[in-house]
Amino acid sequence: MAVGYASGKAILFGEHAVVYGQPAIAVPVTQVQARAEVKDVGRGQGITIVARDLGRTYKLSEAPPDDALRTIVVSTLERVRVGQEKDLAITVSSTIPVARGLGSGAAVSTAIVRALLEHFDKWLDSRAISDLVFETEKIHHGNPSGIDNTVIAFEKPVYFVKEGPMEIFWVQRSFLLVIADTGVQSSTKVAVEDVRRAWEKEPIRYEGLFEDIGTIAEMGRQAIEQGDMETMGRLMTENQRLLRLLKVSSPELEGLIGAAQQGGALGAKLSGAGRGGNMIALVTQETCGQVSMMLRLAGAKDVIVTEVG
Ligand code: MEV
Repeated sequence: MAVGYASGKAILFGEHAVVYGQPAIAVPVTQVQARAEVKDVGRGQGITIVARDLGRTYKLSEAPPDDALRTIVVSTLERVRVGQEKDLAITVSSTIPVARGLGSGAAVSTAIVRALLEHFDKWLDSRAISDLVFETEKIHHGNPSGIDNTVIAFEKPVYFVKEGPMEIFWVQRSFLLVIADTGVQSSTKVAVEDVRRAWEKEPIRYEGLFEDIGTIAEMGRQAIEQGDMETMGRLMTENQRLLRLLKVSSPELEGLIGAAQQGGALGAKLSGAGRGGNMIALVTQETCGQVSMMLRLAGAKDVIVTEVG
């Protein structure tokens, strides 16, 4: 039996604007993981997908062409030239909450690619894995920038520009993020489409906002590279102000962001598509416990702490 894993992700700076060519910064979140298991089954059974968390078991041959799990299995088998005429059971499970901005779709696909590579004793580099997963991101998200598949496949902090060179960057001083879940599911596809419609109506205003967010992502990278946590926190809060203007925040997110600030976070913002999902707060060793407690008191459904760097 072969097993593949993939971590979740958080976007530190630049979500939404990244779809319009601005830079963004994302980091892996190893506390949550997707897992895929591949094993041989009896001859003639074909490929079965068992999506454990969704309580679904189905034959690959019966899945519609736009099924994301079918797509990643077929494209991976094609890419490594082993053909689809296999008898396999592929079981998928994940501790990454679905539709909460932590990259669950991209992580599940990445885990499947890794498990298939292991099973057939093949190797692909992170770029090739990321490219395969990007195709399933299009099914999930319509018009993805590619940041989720990139950070999850490379498993490193990335500075990302759509269709530009991806850079893994240096974290001068490791830092702590508290990630809190509003418990509200939100569709990335819908949020991205809403921003697009608003941009079409008011292109000049929205392009100004995207550029401002891009500038914050650039400055954020510098702050991370210099280990300047105060500046990084301020930039996160400023990024949140701009995300609010893009209308992708929500009362639940604002409630948690306010609670993190009261608890002494250096900065806080939504992470991912917004409208629900998770928020992140930059904290120190000293404020981590207090901020986590404030978030729980404010109604966070889950709170995790991750160290970056
Ligand atoms: C989703 O994790 C981030 C968005 O910027 C969409 C994308 O980049 O594809 C909202």
